[in-house]
Amino acid sequence: MHALKNSSLKLPISLTGDRPTGPLHLGHLAGSLLQRVTLQETHQSFVMIADGQALTDNTGRRALIQTSIRDVLLDYLAVGIDPNKTTIFLQSLVPELFELTFHLMPLVTVSRLERNPTIRKEVQQKFKKEDEGENDQPILHRDIPVGFLTYPVSQSADILAFHADIVPVGSDQLPMIEQANELALRFNRVTGQRVLKPCSALLTNTPRLPGIDGKAKMGKSLGNVLNIGADEATIKKAIKNMYTDPTHLKISDPGKVEGNVVFAYLDAFHPNSAEVELLKTQYQKGGLSDRSVKDFLERTLLDLLGPIRERRIEAEKLNLKDILRDGSNQARLVATETLEQVREALGVGVSALGGL
Ligand code: TRP
Repeated sequence: MHALKNSSLKLPISLTGDRPTGPLHLGHLAGSLLQRVTLQETHQSFVMIADGQALTDNTGRRALIQTSIRDVLLDYLAVGIDPNKTTIFLQSLVPELFELTFHLMPLVTVSRLERNPTIRKEVQQKFKKEDEGENDQPILHRDIPVGFLTYPVSQSADILAFHADIVPVGSDQLPMIEQANELALRFNRVTGQRVLKPCSALLTNTPRLPGIDGKAKMGKSLGNVLNIGADEATIKKAIKNMYTDPTHLKISDPGKVEGNVVFAYLDAFHPNSAEVELLKTQYQKGGLSDRSVKDFLERTLLDLLGPIRERRIEAEKLNLKDILRDGSNQARLVATETLEQVREALGVGVSALGGL
């Protein structure tokens, strides 16, 4: 087994992950992936494919999970997450994480989990009952799976097992970080030992990218995504249909930049913000067609995604199995060490034998 990446340097630790429920999209790219490529130079970095968490609302979808694990791994490699610098691993190959989840469960109440705003929103979206109206108070009904309600505990275990200093995530994940920190403090207080370490969230400048239809968030379930690995024709078509300013009818009309997806994407992905600001001013004055700003975005995205697509094709030739297995073995070493301290603090595992 290789030495842990960057570990001898005592760098601060970064951990994050994604559920494998489909290929990654531009929202992931702006929100987190590009940042991870930078972080791997300055942090001991862990990136997890959270297949266990994906199962909490996709159990039985074996083919979807398997294809998506491959897709997500290829997307990582394509954007430049380098397995020689970042420990890329599969959650289910680090079973210590599930044991840690079990030990954290007694430290959190059902009502605390029900107050988690991300869980509340997701329950409303995924498990909405037919007879609930749009305006009903959000209620958590009793027939949501226990595994779904408790996935924040599992995510806390993911974070705490690696003693992460920072967790780069989108803003929807902030309640999970808060939950992890509460659990760390509670564990330490209850056991009287400082085993688990609170962490900080790291948000990007673009924590939320709108969908190509103008909806507030890009999301697979919303059907408004542009995938990182999209081919040229798909990129062009998405831009052609992209939501702009519906009141900008004639070229001479002044156009709105707020809520205009083309400009949101230029802000997120164009390397030169001064150039984008100039374009915005022209558009707002009137005299600039949607077609011309879309052409500008098309060039920007083709330039950005072209090399990523090529690297993805190269990555398909690599031994993906070895990359994920090696990374998972390395992650397992760290998680095992934490878990041994956790068992010791709780008085279970080998430490229980000491009392016999
Ligand atoms: N919940 C995250 C998502 O849906 C994935 C995830 C699992 C994660 N474990 C994590 C993110 C730990 C950060 C840290 O994308």
